[in-house]
Amino acid sequence: SGTPRTPPSGRPGALGQPASGPSGELRFPPAFLWGTATAAYQIEGAVREDGRTPSIWDTFSHTPGRTAGGDTGDTATGHYHRWREDVALMKELGYGAYRFSVAWPRVQPTGRGPAVQRGLDFYRALVDELLAAGIKPMVTLYHWDLPQELEDAGGWPERDTAHRYAEYARLVGEALGDRVELWATLNEPWCSAFLGYGSGVHAPGRTDPAAALRAAHHLNLAHGLGTAALRSVLPARGKVTVSLNAGVVRPLTGSPGDADARRRIDILATRVFSDPMLHGTYPESLFADTAGITDWSFVRDGDLATARQPLDALGLNYYSPTVVSAATDDGGPRRDGHGRSDHSPWIGADDVAFHQPPGELTAMDWSVDPTGLHELIMRFTREAPGLPLLVTENGAAYEDRPGPDGGVHDPERIAYLHGHLAAVHRAMADGADVRGYFLWSLMDNFEWSFGYAKRFGLVRVDYETLARVPKTSAHWYSRLARTNVLPD
Ligand code: NOJ
Repeated sequence: SGTPRTPPSGRPGALGQPASGPSGELRFPPAFLWGTATAAYQIEGAVREDGRTPSIWDTFSHTPGRTAGGDTGDTATGHYHRWREDVALMKELGYGAYRFSVAWPRVQPTGRGPAVQRGLDFYRALVDELLAAGIKPMVTLYHWDLPQELEDAGGWPERDTAHRYAEYARLVGEALGDRVELWATLNEPWCSAFLGYGSGVHAPGRTDPAAALRAAHHLNLAHGLGTAALRSVLPARGKVTVSLNAGVVRPLTGSPGDADARRRIDILATRVFSDPMLHGTYPESLFADTAGITDWSFVRDGDLATARQPLDALGLNYYSPTVVSAATDDGGPRRDGHGRSDHSPWIGADDVAFHQPPGELTAMDWSVDPTGLHELIMRFTREAPGLPLLVTENGAAYEDRPGPDGGVHDPERIAYLHGHLAAVHRAMADGADVRGYFLWSLMDNFEWSFGYAKRFGLVRVDYETLARVPKTSAHWYSRLARTNVLPD
């Protein structure tokens, strides 16, 4: 382990530099991946079929008061039975890549022991259909659906969960490694640790600050053990990444207090994961900042070396920046954009205040700020030279609905995407090695504690009939994927 492993084709810019055309159009390199992204619990439904057992999200969403409107993933978009149709739609729209997640409780229902063949068969058939359609699959191994039995045994705060995860990663790697090249170990471990065990707005809904920090560490360990386990079964061309929702944190003012608030939230949002994964360390001040909560004695010798595995790319998920200040006397509103809770996901930072960033808002009340995406890409370009980057999520929820002509016109989403893709292009022109972009999301789906009310899709899902209707943005993205040119 050590420095990032550069893939065979991989010196920066090997896939071509971005260019600007005469009319100001922005051109992306020919091999740039144009993908969409989804996650198992958000789209599949069929939660009791073919041997699948409950995950923490089944339990959580079925607990009264946990999700908006009591929504659950029981049916979701019905993808488990409509996957052929969904792949056909991607093909028709000309999207070149698709990032989806494997549901752990379909493959290994109790989180231990041999794999369930029917579970693996579903993903194998999906991958084959994608490959036949000329769509490059990217598998996320863990997008938040921990088997409930593992939570009953303690969940992510327990060290054993990391070992269970590595075993699961190996099982899926063995089953799909011959046909899937691109892998992500974890999706947004920040949410798993701090929303799951800190603020409790995500499953399993616990509000225990020390448990949240233990969970963060064991997710880092899981990433390291899982990457090694995957590598041991993947062919040499296999590429392993992780998707981090690295935060873009800005201070409200230039005061030293606000600068310190920024430093602390940056550590809790990003460095608590990216430092161990990329450098094999925790930021020293993380221990001091959280000293009142835990002594970190659960970190064992060798864990940080394990967490730092050679990676083939780093996946970044970006939606919106965060603005912080030292707390005002009245405490101020805690608008950190991650749902309502009496408990903070920002462990040990109770004296930090969160502010609404300037700019237009999406339906999530997240501000639209493409400069944050440029900033994030440039940060990791500097921090991990030679490591290719993938935007593994970016997109926006809007309250779009069918118009009188039956079409779903979503100019705001197109404007959001245009701005963010121009930021990606600008980062590439500034020297960043970005290999692809996965738009969240292919279709409207179960937006976790917000339920079905928030629609992120390029394709509208009618939840009465489960019919799919591509929105105007789906056609816009289709042109981009086919031409590599972002129109003015
Ligand atoms: C982050 C998550 O990975 C995804 O599951 C979620 O739906 C989107 N961002 C939007 O919040």
